[in-house]
Amino acid sequence: MPIVTTTEMFEKAYKGGYAIGAFNVNNMEIVQGITEAAAEVNSPLILQVSAGARKYAKHVYLTKLVEAAVADTGLPIALHLDHGADFDICKSCVDGGFTSVMIDGSSLSFEDNIAVTRQVVEYAHDHGVVVEGELGRLEGVEDDVVVSAEDSSYTRPEDVQEFVERTGVDSLAIAIGTSHGAYKFKPGTKPQLRFDILEEVAQRLPGFPIVLHGASSVIPKYVDIINANGGKLVDAIGVPEDMLRKAASMAVCKINIDSDLRLAMTAGIRQHFNEHPEHFDPRQYLTVGRDYIRELVKDKIVNVLGSDGKA
Ligand code: G3H
Ligand code: 13P
Ligand code: ZN
Repeated sequence: MPIVTTTEMFEKAYKGGYAIGAFNVNNMEIVQGITEAAAEVNSPLILQVSAGARKYAKHVYLTKLVEAAVADTGLPIALHLDHGADFDICKSCVDGGFTSVMIDGSSLSFEDNIAVTRQVVEYAHDHGVVVEGELGRLEGVEDDVVVSAEDSSYTRPEDVQEFVERTGVDSLAIAIGTSHGAYKFKPGTKPQLRFDILEEVAQRLPGFPIVLHGASSVIPKYVDIINANGGKLVDAIGVPEDMLRKAASMAVCKINIDSDLRLAMTAGIRQHFNEHPEHFDPRQYLTVGRDYIRELVKDKIVNVLGSDGKA
């Protein structure tokens, strides 16, 4: 099976009340940990690549790794550009074998966001590639861009229909209170998401796939292992898993997870070095990092996303 688009995955996920995990990949061990987990539980997957990942690993290495994962597992896997900042990076990924791209015009005015998103959709659709757009702005860190709480904004449900109609996007990322990174909510406050916005968006766009960014749960187990082995993560707080389950049962068909992968891999490697300070073969500690990613992703698929058995 070749790398697929997200069209069929989203149709089934919407109808079935579950979501597809979109996991960020940066190297071979991350790709293997994620895809081996998905193979164990027969789940479709989206593997996504940021501009930072392309800079770190090079486009060609990442596409070849994902092609290898498809050959190895036989799973339906989509290769997606995460947070494309402009037309040029989206075009480069369309030309370079991606099956899905995100054009993130969320920092632009409504009209400028529509214009650049429309331009990407025209090019991508001509090449059989699907497009995710974004309305509303998440707080947190993406690549080198830091979005402060004051600059973040919830999606306005009254804008979504016009945006989707005028751009032709295939899915839409919305802002309902999640944020990027490991520090999502103020310590001592109860994490809250604007499910009322999600509900209203779903009513205005019946059957249309919605995307949730910033959806790592910052699982305490991994934070504790990191801190018990020389790390320093103070007040790291993520999105509670029951909220993600609720979103997946609604119109959310794609749930983006990166920080949880970083935390799991780092926890495994830190623990390994603490237990084996004499080790210096990367295969020894990267094996543990990969094992931790496999365990995390399997748990996400089965207990949060509900995409197990749907490949
Ligand atoms: O949304 C951001 C993702 O976590 C990707 O992070 O740009 O540091 O690769 P990155
Ligand atoms: P997290 O930082 O919550 O993992 O979000 C990742 C993301 O939204 C990638 O686009
Ligand atoms: Zn994101």
